[in-house]
Amino acid sequence: MSGRFVRLFLLAIMIFSMPLLIQPQGTAENSSSQENDLQYICPMHPEVKSKTPGTCPKCGMTLKRESHTHTSLSADNKRWGANYFPNVPLITQDGKTVRFYDDLLKGKLVAIDLIYTHCKDACPLETARLVQVQKMLGDRVGKDIFFYSISIDPKQDTPEVLKAYAEKFHVGPGWTFLTGKEEDIELISKKLGLYSEPDPSNRDGHTPSLMIGNEPGGQWMKNSALDNPRFLSLMIGQLMDGWKNRKVETAKNYAEVPTLAISGGQYLFATRCSACHSIGHGASVGPDLLGVTTVRSRAWLSRFLTVPDQMLTERDPIATALYKQYNQVQMPNLHLNEGEVNAILGYLATQTVSSHASTSIGGKAGDARMEPGVMMR
Ligand code: HEC
Repeated sequence: MSGRFVRLFLLAIMIFSMPLLIQPQGTAENSSSQENDLQYICPMHPEVKSKTPGTCPKCGMTLKRESHTHTSLSADNKRWGANYFPNVPLITQDGKTVRFYDDLLKGKLVAIDLIYTHCKDACPLETARLVQVQKMLGDRVGKDIFFYSISIDPKQDTPEVLKAYAEKFHVGPGWTFLTGKEEDIELISKKLGLYSEPDPSNRDGHTPSLMIGNEPGGQWMKNSALDNPRFLSLMIGQLMDGWKNRKVETAKNYAEVPTLAISGGQYLFATRCSACHSIGHGASVGPDLLGVTTVRSRAWLSRFLTVPDQMLTERDPIATALYKQYNQVQMPNLHLNEGEVNAILGYLATQTVSSHASTSIGGKAGDARMEPGVMMR
């Protein structure tokens, strides 16, 4: 019984790992001349290498066969290269026309998502998250890793609108916002597997996905754009790059990952809010939330966390003032339920209290405890 289960499990891993890591065709044909060069590596742990096939001792994934002659890869990469991706023109936030394949994908590591600037739902969080990912990847972004956000509402999202949007979110260099013809963008999103049928009743409800690709290696992988930014940056920087630069310092990065011992409210804050807010570390995209539970009434906060968009439409005076003050970036409606709102407000209140307590004994807020503002930095 359990043996059967294990077999099924391994089969499932094999099936799921195949579309994720698409090996370019052709490695099999040219293998004879490069027999000595052949080795097997773990897709999750690039440091695990073996001369023979098998599974990774760390995670149990089937080792992937690969050869050192990387130059042959791009030539063999027919399925996911120039023949697959449309070379349609797009326009950048600076008004420059670029070709999707030739200028944006060819020879690059890329992360691509679809957005529209009037979205009041998932995209603002998605963008703020990716800004964190961009910071973690440092100056590699713009050098060998490129970020693209393509608008699915090209009528409204002119280059000027996109430029203003990028500035509001403090987007750094190496990240291009793109618009273009509606049919071209639809084609791109279908080819990337990011297309979702338009739903007029729930326009903001598209699933925020991020396509990560290694064009020369022919590897493409879909992630949730709302994943932990550290995970995303590891994925982009290491896994997708594993075929090119094997010498990655995994240990250093894993050591930096803090152990998780956090409450529900803290977890929610870390995953849904910290991309735009800190507690006691100053304003970023949104205001610093230290002390907010003492400044605003509980009723106002509960309602604001539940339906911030509605409060703005109703011209709630505080919501309107905040919207103006924060560069007209809207606090997104994150569809939190009552329990989640209570958990977050409870957490914000304890952070405020403990910061008073620790400042009075001379410490800084959140020094010793696991603080999402720090963790997700
Ligand atoms: C995409 C960025 C973004 C995310 C994600 C986000 N916020 Fe905000 N938030 C803002 C902005 C911008 C403002 C100020 C402008 C406005 O209110 O529209 C704001 C305002 C607020 C305010 C009002 C602050 C005050 O001074 O009264 C609270 C409270 C708040 N957010 C809490 C949260 C919580 C809790 C979460 C997570 C569940 C969250 N926000 C997620 C951007 C964001």
